[in-house]
Amino acid sequence: MYKVCENRYIGEDMYLMKVEGKFEGKMGQFYMLRAWDMFPLLSRPISIHDIDEDSITFLYKVVGEGTQILSKLKIDDTIKLEGPYGTGYEKVEGKVALVGGGIGIAPLYLVAKNIENCDAYLGFRNESILEDEYKKICNEVHIATGNTFVTDILDVEKYDYILTCGPTPMMEKLVKMVEGTNTKIMVSLENHMACGVGACLVCTCQTKFGNKKTCKDGPVFWGEDVMF
Ligand code: FES
Repeated sequence: MYKVCENRYIGEDMYLMKVEGKFEGKMGQFYMLRAWDMFPLLSRPISIHDIDEDSITFLYKVVGEGTQILSKLKIDDTIKLEGPYGTGYEKVEGKVALVGGGIGIAPLYLVAKNIENCDAYLGFRNESILEDEYKKICNEVHIATGNTFVTDILDVEKYDYILTCGPTPMMEKLVKMVEGTNTKIMVSLENHMACGVGACLVCTCQTKFGNKKTCKDGPVFWGEDVMF
């Protein structure tokens, strides 16, 4: 069990939670979080937002019972973390666009800390979240809110790589946008998960190479391989 040292609301139903301890994890990987005994049955998979020497940070959205419980945790409350799990983003070199929609911005912070030469394109329903934090570690930060989508403000051909996470229609559109260009894209799928470790097949996704487990083979895949 670990201790929560920060857990605060930052807007758009999202919370930022920091947990004390020494943790491992690469960009795009996730942990299974649990702060209850029996119910809900399943732990919650949450991607790593940031990691440093003595803490790990998660950015999560309240979407159900489990995340509701997480949002009520106070400083010094305890939480169980298992991980890191999954296959994250590959480290790429060149000009990179990080494209996040809603809670999909969560894993891109650690990516921006690990990859040089990044621009960020972040999309939100109403208000922008953590814009200043991303500005500190990205060359440029572009925000889309309301009726404007990140896909409207991004010129994919300016970039060698696009690393994205967010709603499936957004990622599917981005994959289509890079078709026929030299730009490569990695997507982080948000399929529903149960065990998180490759045992239950709940998270199965279809790729050109057959069915894959989102929790283990992904959540990050090359966009051209995914059958949306
Ligand atoms: Fe169980 Fe992926 S969540 S196999």
